[in-house]
Amino acid sequence: MKLMTIKEIFALEPDGRAVTVKGWVRTKRETKAAVFLEVNDGSRMGNIQCVFDEAAAAAANAELGRAGTGASVAVEGVLVASPAAGQKLEVRASSLRVIGEAPAETYPLQKKAHSFEFLREIAHLRPRTNTFGAVARVRNRMAFAIHEFYQARGFNYVHTPLITASDCEGAGAMFQVTTLDLERIAKSGQAVDYSKDFFGKPSFLTVSGQLNVETYCAALGRVYTFGPTFRAENSNTTRHLSEFWMIEPEVAFAELPDNMELAEEFLKHLVRTALKDCAEDLAFFDQRIQPGLVKSLEAVLDKPFAHMTYTEAVAILEKNADKFEVKPYWGLDLMSEHEKFLCEQIAGGPLFLTDYPKEIKSFYMKQNADGKTVRAMDLLVPRFGEIIGGSEREERLEVLEARIRELGLDEKAYSWYLDLRRFGTTPHSGFGLGFERLILYVTGMANIRDVIPFPRAPKLADF
Ligand code: 4AD
Ligand code: MG
Repeated sequence: MKLMTIKEIFALEPDGRAVTVKGWVRTKRETKAAVFLEVNDGSRMGNIQCVFDEAAAAAANAELGRAGTGASVAVEGVLVASPAAGQKLEVRASSLRVIGEAPAETYPLQKKAHSFEFLREIAHLRPRTNTFGAVARVRNRMAFAIHEFYQARGFNYVHTPLITASDCEGAGAMFQVTTLDLERIAKSGQAVDYSKDFFGKPSFLTVSGQLNVETYCAALGRVYTFGPTFRAENSNTTRHLSEFWMIEPEVAFAELPDNMELAEEFLKHLVRTALKDCAEDLAFFDQRIQPGLVKSLEAVLDKPFAHMTYTEAVAILEKNADKFEVKPYWGLDLMSEHEKFLCEQIAGGPLFLTDYPKEIKSFYMKQNADGKTVRAMDLLVPRFGEIIGGSEREERLEVLEARIRELGLDEKAYSWYLDLRRFGTTPHSGFGLGFERLILYVTGMANIRDVIPFPRAPKLADF
């Protein structure tokens, strides 16, 4: 392609060669001697400065008048060394063409700083801001790094379905998928007949690809899935979305320690990649969003993650009970305030909690000999708590069947899942990394609604 991005132009030498810059005007500044257009095309955080000297500005006078913040432009000129601090080159512009105007009276993104709340209302325009451009680039790089990590280790990427009849987490927080005219049925007073529904039975959007990916684990050994998942929980927090992306690796013959080793290597790989390949964007987040971000990410790479059992953690929390809104006790599904405290005050970084009470975890987790806990692991991080949840799976047929019965789940619906235990069962383990939680972690952004292009949350499905 002859078309060049600003990032590609910045890789060139300022040797006076002719260039054409295409992008959107961020700012226009006029002095007596020159007009400066800062142009950005999203290929990198930094703008390219296009300088129109007096003669060029006079020639482009009419177009410059229309080239306000947000306008799309094509600037022709030559590439020269920049006398300005902090940028190695600039464009000595000879001509300007405004492609699409963005009238100042109506264009919502002016030069001033906008709140994230306001920007959420214009989610179709917010990628044009520094922050959301940076989030999008980091998100992109992380998605690719996830595939790099697993592909380099012989994992197969398995595409699991989004529409499903089984509830992986057994929590019932599922969105129903139906083509039945529920309104008409309700008016008629008749019961809903799901045999007439599109799939012939109640169907839902998946909360996790795990059960499906386990089938391929029992054949290919090392697998992972990476796709959207849906949760109809009414959680209005800065850490929950109704639609989020999840990465779920599953490894045959792996036990809980192997699983934690993989999770630690995985997260460190992602942090290392972000520091190396998203340095410009991370420097911005460090400066503007989360002071100390880069140092804290670098520190994560330096030492092994801490480990603790749930029972040990609760003992510590109980000693500090006065610090929490929700009083900790054995059996409590820990809140973000507890998780943050453990990471920030006790572990000083990421922390694996293991062996949770079986009542607060999913049916498929391997039961410990104590009859009370399961081989679960959550990885907690400072600032928001849980980033990964996983476990060793129950591979013993009778134990799993008994647990399904005990919880009153529909045995028939899980019969295919139980087949994996009936035929050639093996120990195996896996986990789920919430992709948006990862992006919160590496960018230092505070609200999960600001790290996905179009957030879905209770009462929020705009755009
Ligand atoms: O802990 P969860 O519910 O685990 C599972 O779904 C397992 N099936 C994973 C597995 O073992 N294969 O979710 C995994 C992760 C959480 O640790 C969190 O990072 C993220 O998914 N997550 C959410 N992210 C955003 N919004 C939500 N509502 C989330 N719920 C979970
Ligand atoms: Mg969890």
